[in-house]
Order: sequence, then structure tokens, then C-alpha cells
Amino acid sequence: TWVNVPQGPPDAILGITEAFKADAFPEKINLGVGAYRDDSGKPYVLPSVRAAEKKIIESNLDKEYAGITGVPSFTKAAALLAYGPNSTAISEDRIAITQSISGTGALRIGGAFFERFFPGSKTIYIPTPSWANHNAVFKDSGLQVEKYRYYNQTTIGLDFEGMISDIKDAPKGSIILLHACAHNPTGIDPTEAQWRKISKVVMERGHYPFFDMAYQGFASGDTDRDAFAVRQFIKDGHSIALAQSFAKNMGLYGERAGAFSIVCESAEEKERIDSQIKILVRPLYSNPPIHGARIAASILNDPKLNRQWLGEVKGMADRIISMRALLKSNLEDLGSKHDWSHITSQIGMFAYTGLKPDQMDKLAKEHSVYATKDGRISVAGITTDNVRRLADSIFKVTG
Ligand code: LMR
Repeated sequence: TWVNVPQGPPDAILGITEAFKADAFPEKINLGVGAYRDDSGKPYVLPSVRAAEKKIIESNLDKEYAGITGVPSFTKAAALLAYGPNSTAISEDRIAITQSISGTGALRIGGAFFERFFPGSKTIYIPTPSWANHNAVFKDSGLQVEKYRYYNQTTIGLDFEGMISDIKDAPKGSIILLHACAHNPTGIDPTEAQWRKISKVVMERGHYPFFDMAYQGFASGDTDRDAFAVRQFIKDGHSIALAQSFAKNMGLYGERAGAFSIVCESAEEKERIDSQIKILVRPLYSNPPIHGARIAASILNDPKLNRQWLGEVKGMADRIISMRALLKSNLEDLGSKHDWSHITSQIGMFAYTGLKPDQMDKLAKEHSVYATKDGRISVAGITTDNVRRLADSIFKVTG
């Protein structure tokens, strides 16, 4: 039956973990997937998550199905985290929100909703480059995927002119995918002034903004600051869609806790959209898993745990910032003549090193340092113990 099924390539990001596992060298380094590690290179379960889990177990909850759109105490708190305490969309009950299988699931529900209901050409514009999975998620949802310029290879910075010009040139009423903060893979975000300009152009062209916010809190250590773009667009009068993930900022990777929401024009519109999201989700997976959502809800809804969590998010962000500085100074100490200032100016989980695919190949084959082909390294995988060897390896392949 399946003789016609061809062998597929490994996943661009998750395939790196497979290659890493197969390497027997004890000092191997995995900077592939964006997953936080502590300074001894171990996965980190946030103490606030442990405390929330304890509370949940002690309250002896049942394991009944959640509703189709998930655990209400979670979605309510997720909306508040993203849109902020002063959001009129929240106070006017205009946000349609559903729990999702983390950020990917949120993007996929969004893709499916747009495919079914978006008026016009159903074309989504994503940045070049973008998270490797964006293209596949939206293609598989049945949308047409196009690109806008984002990264300037020469300056290793934002190609703001190119971005604005491509968004202007996109046919009126296109969907524009924007990384809310900590752009993946480049770690390069627009400034606040640039966001205002982007918002204006998106408005003028009648485009529809779809934000992917997978790193709220992770970029700056401040969840409000990282939500700037989302809130600015709403202030400017946009209706937006939003994908949220709690994988990184709560370290809930495998729990798959996320949310998809649409800011509607009225409570009545919200009711209609909600009803269609339910019709869409039911045949996909019925209803989402409850444990991760309960953890996130209990952290977000308990003032003491919430404060503790914010401190821990900041701790993760700060460790990443200090590893950036350490990597840069180690490269300089080794005598590297390249300008590595982008390593410390970029933010979030990743550094976009500017290394070429053949150099990334060499890093893996000759130095057992694993990361994606595009030159992205997960800074969260750097530790005070491995940074020297990492810098030395990068120095050797870049000359
Ligand atoms: C990444 O970009 O490494 C993360 O978002 C994990 C993933 O699912 O790709």
C-alpha cells in the first residue's frame, strides 16, 4: 500500500536533536532547538511551575474533558497577560480566545480559520527568514505563503526599508505575520518607533496583522514591554489575531500550553467567531489537554506565584544576556577579527551568527557543535563551562 511514500528529510530544527543524540563525543554541544537550559546545561523546571503543580495535585481535581476552547481560567489569564490590564477589548468582552496545542497549534488554528473565513486572497506574508515551521503550518492550513524582507545580511540587522516596502507592495487586505518580540531566528526586533510605522503601513494597506508571540517575557525579562507591539497595534485601531505560547516563558515545552485569539469589533462578532472556532477545533482534536493549562492558570492567577514567576522569567532572560556577552568576549580574547557585536545586540533565545551553512556543517562534523544550518544558535544552550570550547570552535570555522 505504501510503496509510493518517499523518505522525507529530517526536520530543520528538531532533526538537530537527533543528530546530537547520535554523537558519542562527551563534550558535544546542542544549540539546535530553542529550549532553555540552566548553567549546568540541564533542562530547567521553574520553581513556580513546581509550586503550581503541587497546588494542583493537592486540590484533587478530576480529569474530565475541558470544553472545546479549553480551561477558561487559563484563556482568561492568557488574554490578560497579552493584552494588558487596561485593554478595552477585554473589558468590552471582544476577544475570542481558545486554548491551543502551544504556539504551533495556535498558528494552525489561525491558519485554518483564515483559510475558511478570511475575505480575499487568503495570502499570508511571513518575514525572510522566519521560524522554520511557519511556512509549513500555513501551507498545510491551505493558505498561500509569501515573504517580506526582514533581515539585512550585510548589516546583520533589520532591513526596515525592505520590510516596509514589501508590506506596502503586498496586495491590499493581505495577512501579515509578525513576530511580536524576540524574532526567531534572527533575534532582531523593530524598535518602538519602527513598530509604529509598521502599524501605520499595515493599516493604510488594509492588511490583517497576525502576531506570533512565543517569547513574551523572554526578550526583555518584562512581559509588558515584550507585548508592546501587540498593544500598540490595538491602540492604533487594528483588529488582530494572536498566537501565544507558554513553552518558553514558563518552560512548559512538552505540556503544550498556548492560546489563539482574535480581537473582534464587538461582543456580538466575538460570539460568532467563537462558535466557528469550536466547529473548527472539534474535528481536529476535540479539546485540549488540561494539565499545562492548569499550571499556567495557577501561576497567572495567584499574585504570589505570579510575582515569583516574573522573577524566574527575568532570571532566564538575564542568564541568556550574560551568555551572549561571554561568547562575544571569548571570541575576542581568541583574537577573532570579526565584529561580533550582533551577538549582544540581538535578543531572545537565539543568536543569528551570520555563519554560513558550510561553516555550520564544519561545526557539527569537526567540533560536535550542533545548531541549525541557517547559522542560528540557541544561546540558552551555552553555559560557563562550554562557552570557551564553543568560542574556540566558532573561531576555527570562521578564521
Ligand atoms: C525553535 O525554534 O527551536 C523552537 O520554537 C522549537 C520548535 O518547535 O521549533
